[in-house]
Amino acid sequence: MDGNGTVLIVAQNDDEWAAVTAHLTDQFGYRVLIVRTGPEVVATLLAVHVDLVVVEAGGNIAEGVALLTELRVAHPEVVRLLVLEADAGPASQAISQGAIFQFLRKPLDAEQICLMIERGLETRELARRHRILSREFKFPGDAAIFGERQSIPLRVESQRFEKLVYVSEKMVELCDLARQAARTDLPILIQGETGTGKELLARAVHYNSLRRSSPLLVQNCGGMSDELLHSELFGHKRGAFTGAISDRLGLFRAADGGTVLLDEISEVSPSFQVSLLRFLQEGEVKPLGSDKTLSCKVRIVAASNRSLKMLVAKGEFRQDLYFRLKGFEFEVPPLRDRPEDIPALAEFFAAKHAEALGRKILGISAKLIERLMAYDFPGNIRELENEIRRMVALTKDGEYLTTRHLSPAVAEAIPRRDLRNPAGFALDGTTLKEQVESLEKHLVRETLGRHRWNQSRAAEELGLSRLGLANKIKRYGLGESG
Ligand SMILES: Nc1ncnc2c1ncn2[C@@H]1O[C@H](COP(=O)(O)OP(=O)(O)OP(=O)(O)O)[C@@H](O)[C@H]1O
Ligand SMILES: [Mg+2]
Repeated sequence: MDGNGTVLIVAQNDDEWAAVTAHLTDQFGYRVLIVRTGPEVVATLLAVHVDLVVVEAGGNIAEGVALLTELRVAHPEVVRLLVLEADAGPASQAISQGAIFQFLRKPLDAEQICLMIERGLETRELARRHRILSREFKFPGDAAIFGERQSIPLRVESQRFEKLVYVSEKMVELCDLARQAARTDLPILIQGETGTGKELLARAVHYNSLRRSSPLLVQNCGGMSDELLHSELFGHKRGAFTGAISDRLGLFRAADGGTVLLDEISEVSPSFQVSLLRFLQEGEVKPLGSDKTLSCKVRIVAASNRSLKMLVAKGEFRQDLYFRLKGFEFEVPPLRDRPEDIPALAEFFAAKHAEALGRKILGISAKLIERLMAYDFPGNIRELENEIRRMVALTKDGEYLTTRHLSPAVAEAIPRRDLRNPAGFALDGTTLKEQVESLEKHLVRETLGRHRWNQSRAAEELGLSRLGLANKIKRYGLGESG
């Protein structure tokens, strides 16, 4: 290892970990982050690049196992270690469901745990290189080489987790273009609503590029101070600021030859936009607190769920940086604009989570697919995946996923299709304003009809004043006959 990894420790009590932390930073040069709760882990993993997580399960092993399992699914590339109390029960669940690399029991031995961390990261690196080589030499599969070892199914899965699933024409076109773009070195800008698969597309680009044997590193730019972001991306020298206990390489150089995904690029401050622009123009980095500039050749992929073009128009994002970033510009369409993808995605997620949870599901009922296809999915594919995961968890072995298991949010939503065309009603217009007005008119008329034009009652149900309702009746030209 180059001694520049980041280790995240989920500790019950920071003090107990002081010796381990000191050893990891001083002897190995790791960056160590300590958190206490599951949600903190999730937030940290979204914000910074983490290589290995140590979960200390206190009295409650089940909680620790649940967290490890979640990490396995959401961040399969992060190595997982478990620390148990001396008298805790067996670790078998964590081994099978959480697919941990190793576990150990207290009392903590700093040397032992540091060695395990070091070995865990080495193994991951070897697995990564092996994967690249076997792809290059087209080995049929890893299982034949390694037999039935514990770590093998996980790796196969972790590749599968990264699979882009689609059938829609829109996505076929997009992925064809992305595949071509991948072969170039130009920056790529990927935009689209939350949960549409921007990060997954970025990964696909990297693994379809000539850079695939070098790292792909992800930096979330949201909610970061300039100083922190600078040190994450450009690195820093020891002592450059309080807390900079060792040199840090920075993501751009760590990914040299590979790809850096700058997620939530819309969130970087105007002054940091200047730094990024300079980097894109010159391909040089200058670590914080250092006077040397170092060259580095990374491919930049930027993602945003806010339209940069719009931000440029509002003066909130530099136009020159926007032009630099969009060597290619892709817009991942929201799921509601490509419902044809829903059945394939639902099948994929059902199989993935059935396997992760050890369930034997027969399939998905036709009625359920129909319901899913009619739903709007404001959270897009992420929401679909969460929905399916939840349903898989609620379904017994040997059963189908059915509408019975839908979450209230989806079950109670007005199906989009029904909204557009039920009893002869279709939304008029194309702009949002026109469609919203058309819907408002429909709802006002429908409510008045149900209350036999008793305007007080209708106004009360709609949360309007009588005058407000009267205005709407006038505006939309409604009358008791129509
Ligand atoms: N086409 C797809 N096939 C399979 N899984 C997908 C697909 N698109 C997205 N996913 C899954 O949906 C989830 C959300 O995708 P991703 O994180 O790439 O979205 P995003 O656009 O980056 O969202 P955000 O803007 O919120 O960061 C991920 O778990 C991803 O694996
Ligand atoms: Mg994302």
